[in-house]
Amino acid sequence: MPLVSMRQLLDEAAKGGYGVGAFNVNNMEQIQAIMEAATETQSPVIVQASRGARSYSQDRFLYHLMIAATEIYPELPIVLHQDHGNSVATCKSAIDMGFTSVMMDGSLMEDGKTPSSFEYNVKVTREVVELAHAKGVTVEGEIGCLGGIEDGHGAGGDGLEHLTDPDQAVEFVKQTGVDALAIAIGTSHGAYKFSSKPTGETLKMETLIQIHNRLPGTHLVMHGSSSVPKDLQDIINQYGGKLKPTWGVPVEEIQLGIKNGVRKINVDTDNRMAITGAIRKVFAEAPEKFDPRDYLKPARDAMRAVCKARMVAFGQAGQAGKIKPVSCREYARAYQS
Ligand code: G3H
Ligand code: 13P
Ligand code: ZN
Repeated sequence: MPLVSMRQLLDEAAKGGYGVGAFNVNNMEQIQAIMEAATETQSPVIVQASRGARSYSQDRFLYHLMIAATEIYPELPIVLHQDHGNSVATCKSAIDMGFTSVMMDGSLMEDGKTPSSFEYNVKVTREVVELAHAKGVTVEGEIGCLGGIEDGHGAGGDGLEHLTDPDQAVEFVKQTGVDALAIAIGTSHGAYKFSSKPTGETLKMETLIQIHNRLPGTHLVMHGSSSVPKDLQDIINQYGGKLKPTWGVPVEEIQLGIKNGVRKINVDTDNRMAITGAIRKVFAEAPEKFDPRDYLKPARDAMRAVCKARMVAFGQAGQAGKIKPVSCREYARAYQS
């Protein structure tokens, strides 16, 4: 089936009470890992590309790899989503290329670091909603800012400095018409989220619940949702890596979020760690090897295992067959009316 709109997958997820993992990709092996996990679990899929990923893959390579995914797995509904679009132009270029969903991250200025004003955020997001919805493409906005800057997106700090204000969230959705809303409840991008094991108090779940109660029809998105598992940290460090002790978002907290309106869960770091650990292991144990397939295959397998575990934990496993594709054109018509 052709790429589908994210709105469709998230509406289905809301009906079924589950969440959908959104996994970042930059290359063929990462796309293959996600698709293998999805076919093994019969999951609907959200594949997302950052600006960095689009530039790394020269855009067209990534796009055509995604088309290959739809050809090889015609029975699986797949969304291609722009992660952290930093401007209207970035989102427009994604829509023009065939992405079926875009994030306009107007919570930050175009540099991806400086927190913006509410008015700026509304203005750029509204503009993207207009041009995206005219083509049936889904829009995710963000209100509040995530912490962390190590991967280039985020306001820095520990993620608690720019938490989402529920009143602003309600006003933002009203003024922009976004389909999905990323909220800041204490998560941050990258591996260094928490310096001790998070307790039930670490993430601001009560804020999430308040937002969901006031915006029951808006799909909530959790960014910075890697769990940074200890076993992946250990593999990296065992084979020469130098990660400092760190903690991520417990899967149980994400599951609590899913019970309270979270429909899209962004995961990148865990997959990066799985890939790095697997490659380091081959390099350390078989230094005579130099065929990239000897380390890229285990790397792909390691990422597949992470994706599979998340797909099962988020509840999207087994849901693919229930989704009958609706074209973006039909969505465009629906948005118009
Ligand atoms: O939130 C960002 C994702 O982890 C992608 O990061 O910009 O380094 O590709 P990137
Ligand atoms: P992690 O760094 O926790 O994987 O978050 C990724 C993300 O939010 C991408 O938008
Ligand atoms: Zn993010």
